Amino acid sequence: MKGRSDDLVLITGDDPAALARAASASVGEPIPWVGAGDERASSATVWFASSLPPAAALELPALRWIHCAWAGVDRWVGRPEWREEVMLTRTIADLPRRMADYVFGYLLAMELDVARSRRQQEERRWERWTAGTLGGKTMLIVGHGEIGRVVGAGAKALGLRVLALRRGPVSETERGEGVGSSESLPAFLAEADYVVNLLPATAETESFWNASRFAAMKRGAVFVNVSRGRSVDDAALLAGLDQNRPARAILDVFRAEPLPTESPYWAHSRVWVTAHVAGLGTDETEGVAFAENWRRWRAGEALAHVVDRARGY
Ligand code: GLV
Repeated sequence: MKGRSDDLVLITGDDPAALARAASASVGEPIPWVGAGDERASSATVWFASSLPPAAALELPALRWIHCAWAGVDRWVGRPEWREEVMLTRTIADLPRRMADYVFGYLLAMELDVARSRRQQEERRWERWTAGTLGGKTMLIVGHGEIGRVVGAGAKALGLRVLALRRGPVSETERGEGVGSSESLPAFLAEADYVVNLLPATAETESFWNASRFAAMKRGAVFVNVSRGRSVDDAALLAGLDQNRPARAILDVFRAEPLPTESPYWAHSRVWVTAHVAGLGTDETEGVAFAENWRRWRAGEALAHVVDRARGY
C-alpha cells in the first residue's frame, strides 16, 4: 500500500498536539493532521492512535492504515476500524531498552534491598549486609521477540545465564544459545531464578501462567510480568506465592487496569506493583516511530512492525 496525495491523518491520544509536533519535526515537513473534533476527521485515510482506542468505534470509511503507539495491540483485536483492508502497525521504538531498564532496575532493587537502605537512612541507622546479586543466576525470557532479545542481551551483560522461549521452529544454533519452544518450558522453569513474561495477549496466551506452570518453577524464583495481565491466572499466582513458586512477583500489568483497590496484590508483602509504566514512551520517541512509517508509506515502502492479524501481534 502506498500513501496518496490526499491522505489525511487522524491523530488521537492524551496530548495529540505534542505528538503531532514531534512527528512533523522528525519528518521535516507538515503532515496533514486532523483532530478527532475536526469535521474532516471522518475522511481520514490514516489513524495515528497514541493511546488506547476510544471506547466507541469511529466511523472511518476511507481508513487504510492504523498506527498504534503501543507495542501490544490486543485492544485492537475485534475493533471494527481494523477491517480486512486496513493495515495495523505497532510501535517498538525505545521500548526494548525501557523494558530492559525496568526488568533489571526492579530485580536489582530487590536483590540489593534498596527499600531497606532507604528505611535505614530515614532512621539514621548504620547496618551492613551482603546484598543478593544477579550475576550467575538464570533468567528465563518467555516471548523472545524484539523486546525479549534486548532484555536477553542486557541479562548476559550482567552475567546472567539466559534461557528464552519463543514460538517454534527453533534452529539448532538457537537451541545451543538457550532458546527453546513450548516443549522446553518445564525444563526451563525448573532452572530459572527469574522468569520474565513478555507474551502478547492473544487467545493462545490467555492464562498461560497457570497453576501447573507456577508449580513447575524453581522454589524461590521471581516472576516479572511486563507484558499483559491476561496471560496470568491471578488465583494461581497467589496460590503459587504461598508455595514460594514463585517466591516473589514484580507486576507491571494486570487483567484490570487500574488495578482495583481490593486486589490482594496491593498488600502482598512479596509482590511489587507498578502502574503499567515499564513501556511508556515519550511523545518524542513515539512521534519519531510514526514519522519513520509515514516516510515509508509515502515512498510506497513496506511499513515497519505490521501486525499479523492471524497471530494477533
Ligand atoms: C504497553 O503496554 C505497550 O503495549 O506498548
